[in-house]
Amino acid sequence: MRSFRDFMAEKVREYYTSEGEKIGPRGDFFTAPELDRSFGRAVAEFLHPFLRCFEEPSLLELGAGRGLMAFDILSYFREKDPELFGKLTYYIYEVSPHLRRVQEKVLKGMPIVWVDDLVPVEGVVLSNEFFDTLPVHVVRKGRELFISGSGEEAWLELRNPKVEDFLRRMGYEDLDQRVEVCLDCIDMLRRVSEALRRGYHLLIDYGYTSDEIRRFPEGTVVGYKKHRVVNDIYSGEMDLSAHVNFSALIEYGKDFGLETVFLQSQREFLMSVPGFVEELQRLSFEETPEAVERLSRMKTLLVSMGERFKVLFQSKGL
Ligand SMILES: C[S@@+](CC[C@H](N)C(=O)[O-])C[C@H]1O[C@@H](n2cnc3c(N)ncnc32)[C@H](O)[C@@H]1O
Repeated sequence: MRSFRDFMAEKVREYYTSEGEKIGPRGDFFTAPELDRSFGRAVAEFLHPFLRCFEEPSLLELGAGRGLMAFDILSYFREKDPELFGKLTYYIYEVSPHLRRVQEKVLKGMPIVWVDDLVPVEGVVLSNEFFDTLPVHVVRKGRELFISGSGEEAWLELRNPKVEDFLRRMGYEDLDQRVEVCLDCIDMLRRVSEALRRGYHLLIDYGYTSDEIRRFPEGTVVGYKKHRVVNDIYSGEMDLSAHVNFSALIEYGKDFGLETVFLQSQREFLMSVPGFVEELQRLSFEETPEAVERLSRMKTLLVSMGERFKVLFQSKGL
């Protein structure tokens, strides 16, 4: 028997370290940077004034997928602010050897430094759909979910003081539903804060706040294979993930000196970026098939993804 957390950690590690396409039309899922280039450019435009304040700015991206967001961010800086482009160091922390090879091709000629661990940064730590890959403990009313070698579920008495502390601190003790506790997310947040000497943390992912947790009485863990939800998550290879608990990242961030500047929906975030809105307006006046296609993709970023995804912006040492 092992905890669901250990099971998920192994599944995710196996998934991302195996060969084969993961992201995009021939993979298992799409992400926002894959959908349209306006996403990475909007992130760049948003970060631009913050990065400009640093003498020698760095950007550390966690889990960069196929490298498209890095490409769009760096292309934006190269075009709009060559001086910043010239002095920016862009680090990528990536666990998948396969995706790293893809990134090396996509980002050929771009000033990228790949790192095997989080490195000290004065600037920004950034991630899109990274925290949802981190494993969760699954609990319900004083019991924790364990999985046998043959994939049988068992609810054993909860005996993990860190999980119990989390439930108390977040006020979830009396919830009569599945609650997912991502201690790995808290630990990653601590590592982000340790790496961030001075600057900002921008985290984009799907998730919920404590006010919204009751919308997920059966939890949020989901497996994807070839763009479809997998019914049996205990057998076969798949992309396994869980929604991010943003309230927990805000609460525990305080312990690590991370001050929350805002938490917004992805729609609010994108609509606050002038270049994104101008691009939407420009495309809506064009009648070419490419413009219609791009407009529809940008609407997906705003509407279906726009509400499910949130953007957390935190600062440290400023
Ligand atoms: C869902 S994908 C998102 C990719 C990309 N950010 C995007 O938006 O297209 C998760 C990414 O995180 C990476 N990853 C997962 N677990 C990781 C870990 N423990 N350490 C470093 N990277 C990890 C994966 O290899 C992949 O690049």
